[in-house]
Amino acid sequence: MMSQPGRSLAPEAAVASAEPQPGVLASPRPTAEERLRVLITGASGMLGSELTPVIAGAGYEVYPRPRAELDVTDVEEVARAFRQIRPEIVINCAAFTRVDACESDAAAFAVNADGVAILAEACVRHGARLVQVSTDFVFDGEKQAPYTELDETAPISAYGRGKRAGEEAALQSPTALVVRASWLFGRGGWNFVEAILQQVEGGKRTLPVVDDQKGRPTATTDLSEAILALLTLGVTGVVHFANRGEVTWFEFARQILTLAGHGDVRVVPTTAAAIARPASRPSNSVLDTSKYEALTNRPIRHFREPLLEYMARRARPEA
Ligand SMILES: NC(=O)c1ccc[n+]([C@@H]2O[C@H](COP(=O)([O-])OP(=O)(O)OC[C@H]3O[C@@H](n4cnc5c(N)ncnc54)[C@H](OP(=O)(O)O)[C@@H]3O)[C@@H](O)[C@H]2O)c1
Repeated sequence: MMSQPGRSLAPEAAVASAEPQPGVLASPRPTAEERLRVLITGASGMLGSELTPVIAGAGYEVYPRPRAELDVTDVEEVARAFRQIRPEIVINCAAFTRVDACESDAAAFAVNADGVAILAEACVRHGARLVQVSTDFVFDGEKQAPYTELDETAPISAYGRGKRAGEEAALQSPTALVVRASWLFGRGGWNFVEAILQQVEGGKRTLPVVDDQKGRPTATTDLSEAILALLTLGVTGVVHFANRGEVTWFEFARQILTLAGHGDVRVVPTTAAAIARPASRPSNSVLDTSKYEALTNRPIRHFREPLLEYMARRARPEA
């Protein structure tokens, strides 16, 4: 558990650490008035619902706002939320994430780009820090090695273009942090792990899965802890985070099924061209996470560990 974040603590004083610092232990726990106020948008989404208790558990005063309570594309609603909550930090988990639908639905750019600009402007006006969550899909996938934060972005889908515009809007604020993640899975949201398991549970014995796109599957649990670590350190700019382990979707499906005890299901490798979905996806979107590791000095787990935890929680939904 990390130290309690209060206004009196310099960001460096609350460095991500498994053990509380003696100096912090000796100080009194910040009161609600002293704790930093964090607005989380898109709070009922897959990441937002996992992130909310992680940030609250670290001692921040958290105000989770699902879309029904705060639409990030609505300037008036955002202004009202800032007046009421007076956040010092805004973590934007709101996004239009249906990648194929982004190709034809103008609402996607409104959420992924314009909504971020509205939040960024409000943050600058009120002196709040913006944490924007972004994606590996800002890259074109042509690079033959993992993508670093210094690599040129060149999105090949409407989703990627919207998310890149959102990054640019966020970075207008000098204190903004943009965390790029990839291939998310977690409770409370539709994701690849669910897609595979539910097909098999529905009786499918053969699954064609794309084998010419590779990336790093990432658990929302681990991404939430990573965002907390970066936030606590006061990091600004762009940082990549992903769990360890590079796989194609085909290889990922095989590992999911083996871990779930469905190793007998046939996974058939196929190509993105054969599936022909509306949006193009990068063939390589492996993120290089060495900047994150150097900044936080925290090890990154292989995706198999949180995947096993995900499956255990799935088997006991009340847990
Ligand atoms: N999923 C992935 O594989 C993946 C990979 C890399 C990066 N990311 C990024 O990670 C972040 C979190 O994604 P996620 O997987 O948690 O997505 P998600 O489950 O789709 O959650 C997004 C949330 O945003 C809400 N939302 C949509 N439009 C909104 C608006 N105008 N105002 C406020 N809220 C709005 C959605 O509400 P409704 O459900 O009611 O629309 C949903 O609750 C996003 O920035 C995404 O781009 C995701």
